[in-house]
Amino acid sequence: MSVLSGKKIVLGISGGIAAYKTATLVRLFIKAGAHVQVIMTPASKDFVTPLTLSTLSKNPVHSTFYNEDDENAQWNNHVELGLWADFMLIAPATANTLSKMANGNCDNLLIATYLSAKCLVYFAPAMDLDMYKHPSTLASFRALKQFGNIMIPAENGELASGLSGEGRMAEPENIVAFLEKDIESKLPLKGKKILITAGPTYEALDPVRYIGNHSTGKMGFDIAESAANNGAEVILISGPTHLSSKNSSVKIVRVTSSQEMYEACHSYYESVDVAVCAAAVADYKPKNIATQKIKKSEAAFTIELEKTKDILASLGQLKKNQYLIGFALETENEIENAIAKIQKKNLNLIVLNSLQDEGAGFGKETNKVTFISKDLSIEPMPLKSKEEVATDIINKIIAHYEIATKK
Ligand code: CTP
Repeated sequence: MSVLSGKKIVLGISGGIAAYKTATLVRLFIKAGAHVQVIMTPASKDFVTPLTLSTLSKNPVHSTFYNEDDENAQWNNHVELGLWADFMLIAPATANTLSKMANGNCDNLLIATYLSAKCLVYFAPAMDLDMYKHPSTLASFRALKQFGNIMIPAENGELASGLSGEGRMAEPENIVAFLEKDIESKLPLKGKKILITAGPTYEALDPVRYIGNHSTGKMGFDIAESAANNGAEVILISGPTHLSSKNSSVKIVRVTSSQEMYEACHSYYESVDVAVCAAAVADYKPKNIATQKIKKSEAAFTIELEKTKDILASLGQLKKNQYLIGFALETENEIENAIAKIQKKNLNLIVLNSLQDEGAGFGKETNKVTFISKDLSIEPMPLKSKEEVATDIINKIIAHYEIATKK
């Protein structure tokens, strides 16, 4: 999955021959799963039609502050467009547009949007080779880089003038690859390795029967998805579930029993930065597993159970620098019990589910949790979808590393 999936992109097109390539660019963005709004300068319409771009972007194209032909026309809100975008790309960025951007010369909708945008701005210059090297153009590049804008350098090759050299707008495929690489490198959990447990465990009784529970694994899979979307390398150790991950950076290790989950967790734990134990691990397992199917003979049948290993507690014991998160499912004295678990299992954070809360628990699409941290700050959250709770958990991890780097 591309890191551009779900991203909101404002594409600003200025008037150079390379504008014809923006049709391919929009197509590639849409294919990557991004949402695109196009702003054109008046001059760019000579090179590519708004109809082409609105069809490809599936959105109306903006180019003036209001439509003069429509007496009911509304003001085109450039501030809103700038706030909507995750990032803005000016491509092609002509010498004229670059100079206006550098000097705040706001005479069209594109520049007005650029000046009011709070998001990251990329620009892909396109012009003839001598223009590209002119001191005034170089001054624009310097100024824009100083503003924090990111330049996607022009490429070498044949130019519209018939000359050959540096100045061609980067090819659409190369622009997309540049953006993907740059965005990926800035993801907050880039370089972090996260271990997540999910789902139930099945504890065998005989070759055909087991003791299990109703956990679907959704919470753990959503946490894995959110961690991977934020740049983490994810190892997801899952008990039996039907779920899979869309994100190729999630490595799924499928296990069945609590002992297998314990072993899998321990084989990765030393190398990870964070571990989140969201699995509903069985607390007890049959003491003996029958080698053959147990026949019904007696009127009553007793199974002797023994405790499983507490995976989370064992990770807490081995903890070095890992940020360790556990879950607690409680029905009474929730806060006291959860705090006791933080201390007993040596956790950094516990995610408390109270079964007294409507909408929380197994098989539900929603969850209502309270975060309790090691320093005993208690943060009750409203009822949210499991995806949103997963995002909240990942944001806690991101905040932990942000605070750690500031120290
Ligand atoms: N957990 C685990 N291994 C176990 C049991 C639980 O890793 N054998 C983890 C769960 O993934 C969860 C946390 O421990 O993150 C809390 O599980 P919970 O069942 O709420 O608490 P327990 O510690 O098992 O205690 P109790 O059942 O007595 O409340």
